[in-house]
Amino acid sequence: MNYRHAFHAGNFADVFKHAILLELLDALTAKDKPLCYVDTHAGRGTYRLDDAAALKTDEWRDGVGRLFGAGRIAPPLQRYVAAIRAANEGVDLCAYPGSPWLAAQALRPNDQLLLCDVQGDEAGALHALFRNDARVHIHQRDGYAALGALLPPPQKRGLVLIDPPFEAQDGEFTAIEAALAKAHARWPGGVYAVWYPIKSHRSIVPFHRRMAAGLFANVLVAELLVLPDDSRLRLNGCGILIANPPWQLDATLAGMLPALREVLAQSPHAAQQLRWLRRE
Ligand SMILES: C[S@@+](CC[C@H](N)C(=O)[O-])C[C@H]1O[C@@H](n2cnc3c(N)ncnc32)[C@H](O)[C@@H]1O
Repeated sequence: MNYRHAFHAGNFADVFKHAILLELLDALTAKDKPLCYVDTHAGRGTYRLDDAAALKTDEWRDGVGRLFGAGRIAPPLQRYVAAIRAANEGVDLCAYPGSPWLAAQALRPNDQLLLCDVQGDEAGALHALFRNDARVHIHQRDGYAALGALLPPPQKRGLVLIDPPFEAQDGEFTAIEAALAKAHARWPGGVYAVWYPIKSHRSIVPFHRRMAAGLFANVLVAELLVLPDDSRLRLNGCGILIANPPWQLDATLAGMLPALREVLAQSPHAAQQLRWLRRE
């Protein structure tokens, strides 16, 4: 396991994922009842954009950096930008919040967060970050296996974010599908959001096909390509698959995706897509 998210924090894929994550959480917290947020691959919760890892790749400049140099922020992205500003306490952009931090801010006092990361450094950083937050429970363990132990949560409502590093390439999809099948058996009504990279769109098709024929009755997919999907050896785009999406999330994302493409495009061939893989 070589992956360190610090090299990639705030890149276009994080902007895409986190803007959608906030919409998911806002939709779920529209109802009063408490909920549980499960992050199977949580990372360390917050990242510096001026440390050696971030400076080495500079990926954040074509991600969150563009939103901070953009002048006017398109309305669908204002919620996201406000959250990033809050993580920087109103001063210049030098920190980037990860999914656990964003979720902790978006959730309420009676909600709960279960955060998993297999790496000791990342789990240790989460412990330090959330030491005063009784809502947060941290597990240093395999996030896929943890679903078998943690689901269903007592709240019976909530969201599972599955955001693996994809070091296993296409093999990661096999692990995701097995985890989703196990999760569905334990908690069929949970909302599940799976982030995935797109190098070539062809490699995603079998995953989509299986999910369209799978256990969940409603499956929505949002994708953003910042480069044409035949640019060789590059992360050309990414997507998020949402099983059991909250009501009207499709309409919200239909407004947000063009704004994301406009600000994050690295080519005139950049594109976005939103579609139901399955809908009942
Ligand atoms: C893409 S990063 C997560 C970023 C985070 N979700 C965010 O949005 O801020 C992936 C994380 O998964 C962790 N990881 C890798 N394999 C894992 C596994 N099998 N179970 C849990 N965590 C794992 C890595 O240590 C890394 O921190």
